[in-house]
Amino acid sequence: LLTQQHIDTVLHALDKAMDVALSYFDNPGILTNELKDIKTIVDLKMNECILNELSGMGFPILSEESDWKDKAVNLSGWIVDPLDGTLNFTRKFPCVGISIAFMVDGIPTHGFVKDIFNNISYTANLNGRATKNGIAMNVSGESQLSNAILSTGFPSGANYGTSELMHFVSNVQKFKKIRALGSASLMLCLVAEGVFDVYYEKGIYLWDVAAGIALVNASGGKYKLTKMGEPYKYEVLASNSEIFENALQKLIASR
Ligand code: IPD
Ligand code: CA
Repeated sequence: LLTQQHIDTVLHALDKAMDVALSYFDNPGILTNELKDIKTIVDLKMNECILNELSGMGFPILSEESDWKDKAVNLSGWIVDPLDGTLNFTRKFPCVGISIAFMVDGIPTHGFVKDIFNNISYTANLNGRATKNGIAMNVSGESQLSNAILSTGFPSGANYGTSELMHFVSNVQKFKKIRALGSASLMLCLVAEGVFDVYYEKGIYLWDVAAGIALVNASGGKYKLTKMGEPYKYEVLASNSEIFENALQKLIASR
């Protein structure tokens, strides 16, 4: 498992990648901007920076910005999204994360997320606590859907068909409010610190959520990761423990 030295290396990688992001703040360099997705030079530069720092540790690395499509599915090692919320970054909407998880046999044991615009570091260790800038955090205690905030989104490859969207709308009517911020990793951080109560997204990639899931788990919450057809694609529910079964019934089991 990871030593303090490994963890220090990740924290250093996050700081360096954040410097890279800030150096492209006014000029992210849009490479592709098709359908529901966008890719910039910043994604690639941050990826290069993070992989340089992590590769010396000798664990396998799966990154959104590397050639994952050809890789065998391997769910042990680092799972990296160098820039989660690329569209937000290009619009300067201050909700952008760097997401690094460590997984062992499909379980996210460690999670590290950096909120770039607000310079906040979130860390989690399976056997320890989840922290926000070094201070322990907890999920909310909300148990009623009618009082709960659901954070969610529609991933780039998701089904935008009318019946799929209408079904989603009928599922979420029970919640008090819905928030969609455009960065899965940071929405999960907000669940981990009890600002939001539930996170749900269908068709999201593992690198967007692995670190955030470790954070929710170490903050006292629960999660369910369900594999979808394509490699690394999942339906994800994460919430505080009180509301988990209710949210599961509403969002997943009732289908
Ligand atoms: C996106 C964000 C967004 C989610 C999309 C992701 P990206 O990440 O996490 O919240 O709805 O599915 O693709 O593409 O900016 O890394
Ligand atoms: Ca990304």
